[in-house]
Order: sequence, then structure tokens, then C-alpha cells
Amino acid sequence: MSIVLAIVALLFWETVFLEAQLQLGFYETRCPMAEMVVFQEVSMAIRNDVGIAAGLVRMHFHDCFVRGCDGSVLIDSTPGNSAEKDSPVNNPSLRGFEVIDRAKARLEAACNAVVSCADILAFAARDSIAMTGGIPYAVPSGRRDGRVSIAFETFTNLPGPNFNLSQLTQSFANKAFSQEEMVTLSGAHSIGRAHCGTFSNRLYNFSAISAQDPSLEPFLAMQLMQQCPLGNNDSSFVVQMDPRSPYTLDTSYYYNIAANRALFVSDQALMADSATANQVMRNAFDNDAWRSDFSQAMLKLGQLGVLTGTEGEIRLNCRVVN
Ligand code: HEM
Ligand SMILES: *[C@@H]1O[C@H](CO)[C@@H](O)[C@H](O)[C@H]1NC(C)=O
Ligand SMILES: *[C@@H]1O[C@H](CO)[C@@H](O)[C@H](O)[C@H]1NC(C)=O
Ligand SMILES: *[C@@H]1O[C@H](CO)[C@@H](O)[C@H](O)[C@H]1NC(C)=O
Repeated sequence: MSIVLAIVALLFWETVFLEAQLQLGFYETRCPMAEMVVFQEVSMAIRNDVGIAAGLVRMHFHDCFVRGCDGSVLIDSTPGNSAEKDSPVNNPSLRGFEVIDRAKARLEAACNAVVSCADILAFAARDSIAMTGGIPYAVPSGRRDGRVSIAFETFTNLPGPNFNLSQLTQSFANKAFSQEEMVTLSGAHSIGRAHCGTFSNRLYNFSAISAQDPSLEPFLAMQLMQQCPLGNNDSSFVVQMDPRSPYTLDTSYYYNIAANRALFVSDQALMADSATANQVMRNAFDNDAWRSDFSQAMLKLGQLGVLTGTEGEIRLNCRVVN
């Protein structure tokens, strides 16, 4: 009996602690140029279009929150299956897929079936953050690729731009992130763009009483109404999330929220209670504290639900399962 218990305990220990182990420099012996190739492709892509950095950071987040960081966001739809990337949450807004494809093609040529798509994406997000914010963090690797990608799961796993604070907190708690970590990670919204349809409800028809969201600073609302004219919900209408420094990952996101200049209902919702509002104020004025929190939270994000060892596979083409 006690032996059985010991074995069960050992198995449990292994499941919880050993299988989820990633390793710093996992490719050093297996494919030494892996991280360098990703860095080169990300650098070239960002030089060509700086917005790609934001795209890759968001892509990593969307990968990790749906089935863990297993590269499932990269899988193309097939006749029988609509994949994550074709959910309206991701399509047409998610960008940067070609960067992953280019890195993968070079790495397959150099080291066949060794470097996972999930790791390439994790490295690419790290490099994007380094290039836009200079915020370094370690990315242990050895992730393996999943074989499943289902569009519908984006709705049940990813937070939406109209979420209130309790919904946001719950959404991150579902992935074992604290409310504080949720506030920290949201700072990623200091780079990148948003499509008008994700916040236009704050500009028009917000309620029967007031046509506009009262928690949106009126001058910004006016500018946004010019950029997002009523009735134009076309995907070509986009705005910068942080117009003052759109390509710099910094604490301006928190400064904007404190000034009622956040884009999404979900951003402004961080002012809804004193704990999160205090954190917003602290981050707005303490750049170093936020950077340190952010790098830790990104490290944690990258470990979410990873496949390791013999789980999953090393996809040969990030868009299709083997
Ligand atoms: C807290 C809940 C979050 C919500 C509700 C949310 C929602 C959104 C939405 C609606 C967009 C606009 C996409 C578009 O229309 O093009 C966006 C963009 C973005 N999000 Fe989030 N997000 C959240 C958290 C995060 C996190 C945790 C990260 C990364 C750590 C992140 C990184 C980004 C980036 C970098 C962009 C810009 C993408 C681009 O320019 O292509 N977001 N987010
Ligand atoms: C947040 O939204 C949910 C779902 O719409 C709702 O049930 C809840 O009451 C809201 N919470 C607050 C504090 O507004
Ligand atoms: C505008 O687009 C968003 C998604 O981008 C969608 O949720 C919304 O229903 C659209 N609104 C209209 C009026 O078409
Ligand atoms: C609200 O929406 C309706 C129909 O979409 C539109 O006819 C009306 O002009 C809008 N009202 C405001 C104040 O934007």
C-alpha cells in the first residue's frame, strides 16, 4: 500500500515538476544557431516594419493562453477545421506569421526536426521586446509543438477588449496569473495598434444616455472619431495604442490609463479598484519596478502549459501538423 502511494506520489511529482521543465540554452548542443537565426529574422522584419514587434509579442501571448505555448496559434485551418488564427480574435489582426516561417525554414535547413515552432515564437517575442523596450528576460526552451488548434478556443481562453476588471482577473487566474501579474502584462499595450472595431463602442452608441464612454478623455475621443469614422468597421482602420511612443515598450500605457486615455474598456478597467489603480499609478512613475515585474511575468507566460520531452512533436512546417 505504502509503495503504491509512493509510486503515485512520485508520478505526481514528475508530472508537476519534471515534465514542465524547460532548459536555458536547450539548443546549444542540438542546433547552436537556433536563437541567432530567430534574432536575425526578427531584426530584419522589424527593420522593414517596426509594428511586427508588437505583432509577435501578441502572437506569443495568444499562443500561450490557448492550449499553452505550443505553437497552436501558427497552425493553418484545414477543410475540416477552423484554426485559432482564423478566429475573429486573431484574423485579420494578428501579424508576424511570415517571420516565424522564415526562421523555421532556415532552421529546418540547418537542423532538421529539432527546433520547435513554439520555441521560435517564444524567442521571437523575447527579441521583439528587447528591440522595442530593451527589457531582457531569459527564455528557457525545449517546448514541443501541439497538434491541435481550434478557433473557438480563442473565445474561451483569451480576454476581450470589453472585459471588466473581474472578468480580466478571472481570465488570468484561469492561467494561474495573479491580478498583479495581469496588470503588469497589460503594459504590453504601450506598443502596437488596434483595429477600430475593438473599441469603437466607446465612441459611438455607448449607451442610450451618453453616446460616448464617459471614462474616455474627450479630446482623445474626438481624435479617435476622426480616425475611426462611424460605419467604417473595415480592417484597414487602425490606430496606434500609444500615439506618443507607439514603438517603444514603456510605462506610458499606465500613464495613459491614469489620464483616461486608454483605448479599450479592458485597459481603463484597471482603474476600477484601488489595488489595481495603485499599481497603475506606481507603474506610471516607476519604470524600473515595472520593467522588472514585466520580465518576470513574461518568463512565466512563456512556460504556460508547455509540452516537453516526448509530448507533442517538432513540426516541420509551423503551419501544418506533421
Ligand atoms: C489584459 C487583457 C488583454 C486584452 C483584453 C487584450 C486585447 C487586445 C486587443 C483587442 C488588441 C488589438 C488587436 C488589433 O485590433 O489589432 C490588442 C493588441 C495587442 N496586445 Fe493585447 N490584450 C490583453 C493583454 C495582452 C497581453 C498580456 C499582451 C502581451 C504580453 C498583449 C499584447 C498586445 C500587443 C503587443 C498588441 C498590439 C498588436 C499589434 O500591434 O499587432 N496584450 N490586445
Ligand atoms: C463584469 O461583467 C460580468 C459579465 O458581464 C458581470 O456579470 C459582472 O457583474 C461585471 N462585474 C462588474 C464589477 O461590473
Ligand atoms: C466591428 O468589428 C468588430 C470586430 O473587429 C465586431 O466585433 C463588431 O461586431 C463589428 N461591428 C459592426 C457594426 O460591424
Ligand atoms: C447608433 O446606432 C444606430 C444604428 O446603428 C445609428 O443609426 C445611430 O446614428 C447611432 N447613434 C449614435 C449617437 O451614434
